[in-house]
Amino acid sequence: MDPENPNREKRSSPQYGLYQRENFWRSNDGETVPFNTDPAKLEALAKSHLSQNGWLYASSNAGLSHTHTANRQSFYRHRIIPRMLVDTNTRDTSTTIFGHTVPAPIGFAPIGINKIYHPHGELPVAKVAGELGLPYCLSTAGSQSIEDVGNANGDGLRFFQLYMPHDDELTRSLLQRAVDSGFKACILTLDTWQLGWRHDDVATSNYAFYHGTGAELGLSDPVFQKRLREKGIDPVKQPNEAGALWIDNVWHGRAHTWEKVEWVMGVWREVSGGLPFCLKGIQSVEDAKMAVEIGCEGIVVSNHAGRQVDGAVASLDALEKIVDAVGDKTYIMFDSGIRSASDVFKALALGAKIVFVGRLWIWGLSIMGEHGVRHVMKSLLAEFDILMNVAGFQNIDQINRKALDSFEKNYQLLPTKSKL
Ligand code: FNR
Repeated sequence: MDPENPNREKRSSPQYGLYQRENFWRSNDGETVPFNTDPAKLEALAKSHLSQNGWLYASSNAGLSHTHTANRQSFYRHRIIPRMLVDTNTRDTSTTIFGHTVPAPIGFAPIGINKIYHPHGELPVAKVAGELGLPYCLSTAGSQSIEDVGNANGDGLRFFQLYMPHDDELTRSLLQRAVDSGFKACILTLDTWQLGWRHDDVATSNYAFYHGTGAELGLSDPVFQKRLREKGIDPVKQPNEAGALWIDNVWHGRAHTWEKVEWVMGVWREVSGGLPFCLKGIQSVEDAKMAVEIGCEGIVVSNHAGRQVDGAVASLDALEKIVDAVGDKTYIMFDSGIRSASDVFKALALGAKIVFVGRLWIWGLSIMGEHGVRHVMKSLLAEFDILMNVAGFQNIDQINRKALDSFEKNYQLLPTKSKL
């Protein structure tokens, strides 16, 4: 029995908070903590490990970065109201998503081209997600094949994030491969059919797809291989041209419409036998209502970490309105700007059922590969578990709007240069 808390073994979700004690103890065993997970220090350390292009691609936001600033400001204006003398000894961090129980309401956001951050790309990330039992999303812009990522994720819960090609045969092929590789939902990203204007990336010609990385899902696809042959492109001898065909001709630059979303939802349902279909990138109440109207099982309220539309609303502010409008009609997920457990808590309190994190795990991957991702995520889980403990919340259902005090929107600006 644990003398500090005899109820610990009665908890039904993992004892995440013990990672704090593990780290406090390390020096007694002559070990050091892998690195500091304070987001500002984490980001600075990741920068020191990355090439200039790697750093710029991961950190660049659209335009003046004001959307990212707004994301952070919105977290800042909501404050948690702690409760005292609540028996949190058997607190439960678990929740459910599309019928699956997960140990915490936190997942891995889809992030493209992970080989920028580590030579093994998506594989270590998918592996750690599987190990922790947290949902993992593979991007269509991934740099490892769908099949290899599925294998690395093992028995983990994984979703396939689709950037929809303007090539229906290819779309169907990608979705079929995702189903065959054990992906349990399709998340169609709506906000990035055209890359936002990111000054630093433009100024440094920084687009990995044009330099031979990021087309791996295509290069491993029989339909895309056929397209390469039709165009006379040899992907071994002409990797840049193959990458350009994948990114430019296959999906980027041309908008889709709601009719096409209904089509792809039908294809996904057909190939998957009815697995959930979700839309990512929703920020307006009208679009959320449309998603419900056409029958999507879920939406991800996201502004792509502020990388697409500059000067846009904060994703957290959008969340509040969208939950009010359709919170009882579809499963609402959230991302953009999460840097700490308190941010996770605030998004849940405003009505998200689960949140995804992106840059936090990118930084971990950049610093120390698999170990880095594990350390970042275990730290976030521990911080969240401890936050529930010290703030007096026994389970996820108790985290609702009554847990928050909120300022009006004319709050103090954070420094706009901050990536945090
Ligand atoms: C992304 N994001 C993203 N989204 C997506 O649907 N497909 C993708 O390939 C990518 N790629 C990508 C690359 C990089 C470098 C970043 C920072 C983001 C968006 C991502 O899924 C998620 O919406 C945000 O990253 C969440 O915000 P935070 O947690 O990074 O602040």
